[in-house]
Amino acid sequence: MISTKLSAADYRRLVTMLRLLGQAGLKPTLVRLGLIRTRNVEPLSAEAEAEALVSALERLGPTFVKLGQIMGTRADLLPPELTERLSRLHDAVAPVPFEEVRSQLVDDLGDDPAEAFAEFSATPIAAGSIAQVYEARLTTGEPVVVKVRRPGIEEVIRADLRLLSAAARVIERRVPSLRRHQPTRVVEQLAHALLEEIDFRIEARNQEDVRQRTTVFVVPRVYRQFSTDRTLVSDRILGRSPNQAFRLAEPALAGTLAPEAARGLLGLMLLDGVFHADPHPGNVLVTPEGRLALLDFGSVGRLSAKRREQVLVVLGSLVDADVGAVSDILMDWASRSGPPPPGLEPAVDGFFTRYGAQSGRDVRLAEAVTEFISIARQNELALPPDLLLLMRALGISEGLARTLDPDLDVVEAITPVVLDAFAQRFSFKALATRGFRILKELDQVATIAPEALRRGVARLRREGLVVEVSIPDLKAVSDAVRRAGDTLASAVVAAALILSGALYSSASGGDPAQSLFSLVALGLGVGIWLVFVVRRRD
Ligand SMILES: Nc1ncnc2c1ncn2[C@@H]1O[C@H](COP(=O)(O)OP(=O)(O)O)[C@@H](O)[C@H]1O
Ligand SMILES: [Mg+2]
Repeated sequence: MISTKLSAADYRRLVTMLRLLGQAGLKPTLVRLGLIRTRNVEPLSAEAEAEALVSALERLGPTFVKLGQIMGTRADLLPPELTERLSRLHDAVAPVPFEEVRSQLVDDLGDDPAEAFAEFSATPIAAGSIAQVYEARLTTGEPVVVKVRRPGIEEVIRADLRLLSAAARVIERRVPSLRRHQPTRVVEQLAHALLEEIDFRIEARNQEDVRQRTTVFVVPRVYRQFSTDRTLVSDRILGRSPNQAFRLAEPALAGTLAPEAARGLLGLMLLDGVFHADPHPGNVLVTPEGRLALLDFGSVGRLSAKRREQVLVVLGSLVDADVGAVSDILMDWASRSGPPPPGLEPAVDGFFTRYGAQSGRDVRLAEAVTEFISIARQNELALPPDLLLLMRALGISEGLARTLDPDLDVVEAITPVVLDAFAQRFSFKALATRGFRILKELDQVATIAPEALRRGVARLRREGLVVEVSIPDLKAVSDAVRRAGDTLASAVVAAALILSGALYSSASGGDPAQSLFSLVALGLGVGIWLVFVVRRRD
């Protein structure tokens, strides 16, 4: 995907960059990375190094700002003093003069923007490192925004990626201790993410995809006839920013939108498997009808059914504190086999004490997620990028909801979505597919025995979790429901049992053990989450 050959111009840029990094005080870092060889350098303190790195990345331009932002999400690999600073990297930059944008638009639209549109305002309403956004009106009357990729940015990014990839190869060769972080793979992932983000056809597809799935959010329609890989035309949302000023001006509306935002965003993650990965208040507007509109589909995450299931097991484990299940999943995510590292299970256990249902605390998702990721880091378990994106998006979603209502109990707000996801997971069809997958994995035992066996057994242990906890937790569910005297909660449990009863009868003629399994599983899937919620209310 990225060329590995460096041109003469690349070498010149490399020299300029190394000089800039040196001037920023990063010589010791470059030596440590095996990128330069100099004697007599004093090592920097971790804080000074992090500060210098962040300001150098900002000066090196968009590729490096993005690299920094991605590194900022790798709290599973990097120390907190670095990720904390990296996550504050900005990408607001001075806009490109309109003349340059105009000629690119002429190429893309086949006409001058003043002709192609009924109105086109030459002053951008936003300018970031990758795109600038202009207001326009179609000849058919619709108000639109035209998102234009900064002219020439693709070439700059490709050149930077070539240099980064060359640097990664040098680091991998010269610094054995960094090999385990797989620098060339990290650069490949960055290249992939970045080249995807600058291709607006992918953004258009993601935007349409989410638009068709969501019933909660307004998503601007894309006008395909005007859109290319570097021009994206969509409906203009005439809305207000969901910020503190909005909350103070319209407390009642903000109060209703807050739980909706949290629920809607989590619904995309757990139910649809396609989610907005960066729903910060700058990418959201409140429409005049009082609905939430999502903008900017440059970063969209996708979660496979298997991943969603694993995330649910982790959520469910917050209730029954199944340390083994969560440790297994963490090992699976890091593609590691063998016994878990000795620190893992105690750390997961500690996590449950602080964030589990029994803790009785008002849980901050962002804080819980950070801590969960740091457990992975301390045990040298790297996490897959789709999950890191999910966890980060969870924290950002919580931030949006709390901007709208600082007192919102986010866990309570998202409970209905988790219940839905559990119900889907334990629907008969899902169970049948899951059973098939377990069988398939066990079937591999004959050919690649030990590893497949371990995985198969680990999976059975995880999936079996629901049945294993059935006896003590059934009692806990009914006790908790009784204690809370919550008729709504009882109704949900009853509905779950009736639903699973229906599954039982519809499956009669099938394997009774399987039907019984679905009965217990569905009832408990819902029950487990209820215990969580009800106990928190006690
Ligand atoms: N459809 C839209 N309607 C109204 N404003 C928009 C729309 N799309 C973008 N904007 C404005 O332009 C800004 C930048 O657009 P965005 O797609 O977020 O670009 P970037 O990828 O650079 O963040 C947004 O924060 C918002 O203020
Ligand atoms: Mg944006």
